[in-house]
Amino acid sequence: MVRRNALVTGSCGLIGSEVSLHFSRHGLRIFGVDNNERAVFFGPEGDTSWSLQRLRRNIPDYSHFNLDIRDREGILRLVAEVKPSVIIHTAAQPSHDRAAAIPFDDFDTNAGGTLNLLEAARRSCPEAPFVHMSTNKVYGDLPNTIALRELETRWDYDDAQYEHGIPETFSIDQSKHSLFGASKVAADVMVQEYGRYFNMPTCCLRGGCLTGPNHSGVELHGFLSYLVRCNIEEREYRVFGYKGKQVRDNIHSEDVAGFMLAFCESPRIGEVYNIGGGKQNSCSILEAFRMVEELTGKPQKYTYVDQNRIGDHICYYSDLRKMKAHYPAWRIIRSLPDVFREIVDSWHTRLESNVQVPAGLKG
Ligand SMILES: NC(=O)c1ccc[n+]([C@@H]2O[C@H](COP(=O)([O-])OP(=O)(O)OC[C@H]3O[C@@H](n4cnc5c(N)ncnc54)[C@H](O)[C@@H]3O)[C@@H](O)[C@H]2O)c1
Repeated sequence: MVRRNALVTGSCGLIGSEVSLHFSRHGLRIFGVDNNERAVFFGPEGDTSWSLQRLRRNIPDYSHFNLDIRDREGILRLVAEVKPSVIIHTAAQPSHDRAAAIPFDDFDTNAGGTLNLLEAARRSCPEAPFVHMSTNKVYGDLPNTIALRELETRWDYDDAQYEHGIPETFSIDQSKHSLFGASKVAADVMVQEYGRYFNMPTCCLRGGCLTGPNHSGVELHGFLSYLVRCNIEEREYRVFGYKGKQVRDNIHSEDVAGFMLAFCESPRIGEVYNIGGGKQNSCSILEAFRMVEELTGKPQKYTYVDQNRIGDHICYYSDLRKMKAHYPAWRIIRSLPDVFREIVDSWHTRLESNVQVPAGLKG
C-alpha cells in the first residue's frame, strides 16, 4: 500500500505539532512547514524550536521545511513535490491583539498564506482534503449582542436559542472583528470558495480556545497555557474587563487533531464547523483560577484591568451539534480537569528542564 503524505503547516505550533504526531501514529508520513514565526510575533517566549526537537524525536521520518507560507513560489513548489494526500493548514499569526501592530504581516500570513496553499493544492492535489484552522473571531463581537445573565463566577447566555452555544449559521458580517478576525474571515471565505467553486474537499474549523500541554502560551495568545504558567511561576496574570467572568470553551489539541483525521477519512466539500470544548468544557477566568489553584496549591496572583480587550467575547461556547451529526464517531475525549492537569504537568516539566525558557525570562 502506498503511504499517504500529510502536509502540515505551522507544524511546530500547538495544533500543528499535535496533528503531526496524531497523523503519524495513524500511518501518514509528515511534511511539516514552520519557520518559527511565532518567535517573531511574540518574542522569545513564543519560540517553538523545542517543539521541532520534539517532533524530530518522536517522528523518525518527519521532514521539516523552514519555509514561510507567504513565499508563494516556495509553497507552490513544495506542494507540487510532496503531492500531499491531505493538507492541514494551521500556520497563522494567531493573536487578536497583536494584529493591530503588524497589519501587513498579519494579513499576508493569514489571508495571503492561505491563498498560496489553496492554489498550490488546486494545481497539484485538488482531491486532497484541505483542513483550515479558522477561528470564532470570524463572528467578530456579534456574540456580545446575545442577552446574557450574570452568575456568581461567569456570564451565560440568557436566550434559549443559544442553549447549546454558537452555531455555524451565526453571522460573520457587520461586527468588529479586530484586524486578526478580518484576515481570518478572508481566509475562511476563500477556503469555502475553493470548496464550492472548484469542488475541492475543504473545511474551515472555527476554533474556540484550543489548548493543551504543548502550547507556548504568551499573554497575547493561549490564555490557559499562559494562566497556568503565571500561577506556577507566581507571576501576576492580568484580567481584562468583564469582571473576570468571561467564558471560553476549551478543547484539547488532540481532540482537534482527532476531528481533522475524521474529516480527512470522510471529507465533504466546502464545510464549516465550530470547534471548541462546548458548554461542558467551558470556564470563566475566575473559574480557571480556582481550578489551577486546586492543582498547584498556589494562590493565583492577578490584577484587574477595567478595560476589556477590543472586541473580546463576553461569553462564547461552540455549538458542537453539526460536527457530531456529520462525524458521529468523533467525540471530545479530554474533560476540562484533564486538560488543566496536563497543562500543569507540562509546565512543571518544561520549566524545570528550562526548555523554551530563555535566560532572563524566568520568574
Ligand atoms: N490556540 C487557540 O486558542 C486558537 C483558537 C482559534 C483558532 N486558532 C487557530 O488555529 C491555528 C493554530 O493555532 P495555534 O494555537 O496552534 O498557533 P501557534 O502559534 O501555536 O502555531 C502556529 C505556527 O505557525 C507558524 N507560523 C506562523 N506564521 C508562519 C509563516 N508565515 N510561515 C510558516 N509558519 C508560520 C508559527 O511559527 C507557529 O509555530 C491558527 O490558525 C489560529 O488562528 C487557534
